[in-house]
Amino acid sequence: MQVLIGREQIAQRVAEMAAQITADFAGQSLIFVGVLKGAAIFLSDLARQVKLDATFDFIGVSSYADKSHTSGEVKLTKDVEQPLVGKNVLLVEDILDTGLTLTYINSLLAAHQPRVLRTVALLDKPSRRLKPVQADYVGFTIPDHFVVGYGMDYAEQYRNLPDICILPTAAWKHG
Ligand code: IMP
Ligand code: MG
Repeated sequence: MQVLIGREQIAQRVAEMAAQITADFAGQSLIFVGVLKGAAIFLSDLARQVKLDATFDFIGVSSYADKSHTSGEVKLTKDVEQPLVGKNVLLVEDILDTGLTLTYINSLLAAHQPRVLRTVALLDKPSRRLKPVQADYVGFTIPDHFVVGYGMDYAEQYRNLPDICILPTAAWKHG
């Protein structure tokens, strides 16, 4: 598979984002809320470089299921486990695509009444957006490729690839 963003480039950008987040929340604490499962690897790398008191939580949604195109439907499969009322919450996403997932999760988390709700997405594919939503921190803006690796999957495969790779169209279009 063709590498779109290599591991060194990812590590460098993650460090920059962590430094920015550390500065923006200086002197405060943070709850990282990762979106399962794609954001797990990004969250673990990012959080280890954020120099703040922090806790982790995870939220589960089903959107892409086993397909490489969105169903346009988002379902909550796992809610957060700790109270977010009055807290600084950083929602951690792997990739922002149509925006359906982030729009749904934003309204869901807002209902928990955090003090501040910010979002970080490792990747952004703005050309695919259906909902007018943006992340506060974006790692890389990429063209409309289906990517896998560094946590991201195609039918649950390839999450453990250390680089972000382009899934060849032939691998899914006619599958
Ligand atoms: P959205 O709701 O269309 O913005 O989709 C967001 C979710 O779709 C992400 O959290 C990913 O899980 C998945 N997704 C979107 N694009 C890709 C991709 O290129 N590779 C793997 N997963 C993707
Ligand atoms: Mg996801």
